[in-house]
Amino acid sequence: MIESITVDKADAALFIENLNKTFKRGGSKTYALSGVSFAVEQGEFFGLLGPNGAGKSTLINTLAGLVKPDSGSISILNNDFKAQWRQFHMSVGIVPQEITFDPHFTVSETLRLQSGYYGLRNNSEWLNKLLENLGLTDKKDASVFSLSGGMKRRVLIAQALVHKPPVIILDEPTAGVDIELRHRLWEFMLELNSQGHTVILTTHYLEEAERLCSRVALLNKGKLVALDETQKLLQQFSKERIKFALPPGTDISKIPFDIKPLANHFYAVENHNPYTLRQLLNFLNEHGLQPDGLELGKANLEEVFLSLTK
Ligand SMILES: Nc1ncnc2c1ncn2[C@@H]1O[C@H](COP(=O)(O)OP(=O)(O)OP(=O)(O)O)[C@@H](O)[C@H]1O
Ligand SMILES: [Mg+2]
Repeated sequence: MIESITVDKADAALFIENLNKTFKRGGSKTYALSGVSFAVEQGEFFGLLGPNGAGKSTLINTLAGLVKPDSGSISILNNDFKAQWRQFHMSVGIVPQEITFDPHFTVSETLRLQSGYYGLRNNSEWLNKLLENLGLTDKKDASVFSLSGGMKRRVLIAQALVHKPPVIILDEPTAGVDIELRHRLWEFMLELNSQGHTVILTTHYLEEAERLCSRVALLNKGKLVALDETQKLLQQFSKERIKFALPPGTDISKIPFDIKPLANHFYAVENHNPYTLRQLLNFLNEHGLQPDGLELGKANLEEVFLSLTK
């Protein structure tokens, strides 16, 4: 049983209860979200992880009003997404995964238009700060159409933040951006979080989740399969273990150890005692198997993730 609700609805930054979404196409049905419930506390830096197709974007697009759920309820800062939709949308800034813009406008115009949507004028000081923090100042008069993918993503982030929302939700904010910008975005998101904004993001970079998020939820095939403090999740799986690679196609069922496959032909042997390493090496040697990249240590988030979604 996952303890996914740890805060009262009235106090939560985000509160999701029994959210369901099925996509029907032709004769087939996809259960994109199945009974998803969890809460994020105010001020948290929270990560939503999961493999391709897990349902992360469906969840975020539901929050953005782009996808209509079959059932379930959502509230942000105690504003219900149906009953108090206006306050709901004022409370949250959402950066979608897909990049879509009206190509006719410049970066500045895009941000001013978005501000107008929230009824905001005279917020140029904040808009300039956003441009500055996202490294967009010298692009502010360029048409959005002419920007590179990484630059467009920065504009998407600025656009979601024009109304200084207390809750910020980003769907893969650093996908396809270079290392320098990724680090800059990390700093910016941490700064926003330290100023009291709740930040929720999805990412495929587990290093990013490990670094930034104090708690992470793991979705797999539309279901919540884990939710815990990042460190606890790691500890739970961080038994000392022997890690090594074997040639592709090796039949590991014949290896008489508690052996688990990881990614890229790597394997892990857990629960070992001081003799296990020598016994393992002897066995592999006797069977003509040459282990590669041998390592002793603890599991990282990548391995936790793989073992929970396998
Ligand atoms: N508009 C749609 N019509 C039909 N199926 C959809 C639609 N949107 C999403 N799906 C399906 O719902 C499931 C969840 O997709 P979703 O985009 O939420 O995954 P994700 O976790 O964001 O994956 P990724 O990491 O690749 O971004 C997938 O099986 C996807 O094919
Ligand atoms: Mg997605």
